[in-house]
Amino acid sequence: MRTNRKTLGRMAGAALAVVIAAGCGSGEGGEGSATMAAGENCLGCHVDGGKASERPFTVAGTVYGSPDAAANEGVEGAQVKITDSAGKVVNLTSNSVGNFFTDESLAFPVRAELKDGGSVAVMPIAITNGGCASCHAQPPSNGAPGRVFVATP
Ligand code: HEC
Ligand code: HEC
Repeated sequence: MRTNRKTLGRMAGAALAVVIAAGCGSGEGGEGSATMAAGENCLGCHVDGGKASERPFTVAGTVYGSPDAAANEGVEGAQVKITDSAGKVVNLTSNSVGNFFTDESLAFPVRAELKDGGSVAVMPIAITNGGCASCHAQPPSNGAPGRVFVATP
């Protein structure tokens, strides 16, 4: 393919936009690591056909202490319990930026329950999309209350 100067410029701009989007709000997070893209929909990329298709996840997200927390205010050490429709349980723990993720095979829809110290938050509905931030974001969508959160003890 012949690429002229104008096209190259546009391509560089697009690449930069992607880097900014992925890094935005992740604080200490680096591209391509477990601390990347806090608060964003991990499954936007970590799926078959996505930018991170080599590393697909079934469930992934970021835990916060409140529904309107900033993206870089993730909570470390919260427990995320996922129960699938066959009764299989996957227990995850949020990392230094609040991220959690798994590639365990799961039967959807799944339920989610969070614990941090004495605080518990249970999602009252079952979901068919394991990308928590596809609904739990700022601003939220599909009726979610905001970020995935459990009150910090
Ligand atoms: C804009 C696309 C994009 C988003 C959104 C994204 N990632 Fe990634 N991620 C990547 C790419 C690309 C890689 C590098 C994949 C590879 O090494 O094959 C990567 C790599 C990773 C890795 C390392 C994988 C390995 O095998 O070493 C982890 C862990 C990870 N991401 C977690 C997350 C989490 C958790 C989220 C959400 C909070 C997230 N990512 C959101 C694109 C993304
Ligand atoms: C399809 C959209 C959607 C997805 C995806 C989703 N949620 Fe939710 N979540 C909601 C809605 C809607 C509510 C509020 C339901 C209500 O109050 O009736 C909610 C509520 C919650 C709550 C309770 C909030 C509170 O007030 O204490 C938790 C915890 C939660 N979700 C965790 C998760 C986790 C973890 C994931 C990813 C595994 C996830 N959610 C994925 C839509 C979603």
